[in-house]
Amino acid sequence: MIQFRSAFKGDKKSALVFMTLEQVKEKKCALSGKKACDAARAAVSAGHFEGNKGDIFPLIVDGKMVVLFGLGKKADLTPTSLRGLIRRGLLLSYFKKSADIEVILHEDTVDTVKAVIEADIIGTYSWKKYIAKKADDKTVEKKNIFVIAALRPEYAACITTSENVNFARELVNDNADLVDSLYLEKTFRGIVKGVRSVEIEVLGRKELAAKKFGLLLAVNQGSNKKPRVLIAKYTGADKDAPYTAFIGKGLTFDSGGLNLKPTGSMETMREDMSGAAAVLATLKNTIDLRIKKNIIFACGIAENAIDANSYKPGDVITGYAGISVEIGNTDAEGRLVLADVMAYVNKTYKPVKIIDIATLTGAVVVALGHDYTGLVSNNDALAEALLKSAAATDDRAWRLPNYPEIKDSIKSKIADIRNTSTLRGAGGTITGAEFLRRFIGETPWAHLDIAGTAFVDGDSRFYYGHGATGVGVRIFTDYMLNN
Ligand code: BES
Ligand code: MN
Ligand code: ZN
Repeated sequence: MIQFRSAFKGDKKSALVFMTLEQVKEKKCALSGKKACDAARAAVSAGHFEGNKGDIFPLIVDGKMVVLFGLGKKADLTPTSLRGLIRRGLLLSYFKKSADIEVILHEDTVDTVKAVIEADIIGTYSWKKYIAKKADDKTVEKKNIFVIAALRPEYAACITTSENVNFARELVNDNADLVDSLYLEKTFRGIVKGVRSVEIEVLGRKELAAKKFGLLLAVNQGSNKKPRVLIAKYTGADKDAPYTAFIGKGLTFDSGGLNLKPTGSMETMREDMSGAAAVLATLKNTIDLRIKKNIIFACGIAENAIDANSYKPGDVITGYAGISVEIGNTDAEGRLVLADVMAYVNKTYKPVKIIDIATLTGAVVVALGHDYTGLVSNNDALAEALLKSAAATDDRAWRLPNYPEIKDSIKSKIADIRNTSTLRGAGGTITGAEFLRRFIGETPWAHLDIAGTAFVDGDSRFYYGHGATGVGVRIFTDYMLNN
């Protein structure tokens, strides 16, 4: 829990004081109270604490712990590095035994206080469901943070959004056999339950077959899980005002199908529903924040399993849009699922904009690494607006091109198009996006390829620990609020 107080009280067991290099040089004491200030000044005067990036110095003042934490030069701080440093401070082993921490920042601005909120809620989140707790482990899981800053109205929304980022992460991190299509349907129904501004449509196998979702059903064919399409129509503005659609890829597991993924590429594939998780968490956040916009939230849920019934390379399959698709590779399944959902949402709900989010291609990691989501769009204004939201929320994205000549790369000799390109993987994110573009007509569209950003396979990246990052929720929320 995060609370705000106007001045440092020193009434909690511990305090964490962030100071820039400049503040330390000027011996500006951020602590109020003579004893605490004197102790900090003594540490500085004796040269123990200089305020360099990551410098740490603990003091005991009147039996309470005060940890000084250096931020380095103020000019070198970025939104990401500030969150990272605050996270490191909050996770210090010194605080293992204290549930309450007063946090003093180097300055009281909206941006720095938001950095504390995100460093705490997003930064200290970890996935430990299946780790047995040792009997003597007294680690305080959730700390009470008392930020010494003026309370401003935007903080409540920042807290809610950060918690909903973690909501998405919980869905991604748990086992694929637990978080399956029925679990996601239940989650979806739970989010919208009793909300009067939402109408829903849930399509099961029967409805999907009747509506000719041939591509989505083909992908799910080798699975014993039920296919689902989940759609929520959220009317936060006038009901005649236009709707924007968010559409998520929800592969609860991606084995690759008959084009089976090798060892080393399959272990994290429960992350392949991260797009759907982002859409569901954004739906929840939109309801929680009562956002006054009209939005369609849609998820295509399937599992790419391997079985005698699996769809096969070389098959030609026609889906909702009536476009025939040659299956060049059963592992390029996300675009098939999305194609049906995008075509259906476009035709049925007539949104003025479509934004899809998907762990679509390994190629996006080659192009951009793990720090930027790939964005492809047929509309400059929409792309610019999304990039702006990505930058503003520190949920980074970078644009890759869509251009007329790329059309030929998904040509097929036996079908209208193919789900793999003739370029043998070159520009795989761009050709994957081009495939999706064929299913939305002329509607302004943007595609977020989050295959590189949805999951941290190592210990940590930026201020995210191991596992799902909840990418997209902050971009979407900021986009809705500002467009
Ligand atoms: N789900 C994968 C993409 C992915 C890769 C997500 C790494 C997260 C991390 C997607 O379905 C896939 O397998 N794509 C193929 C496409 C190829 C066969 C054209 C890929 O990227 O190799
Ligand atoms: Mn795949
Ligand atoms: Zn996939």
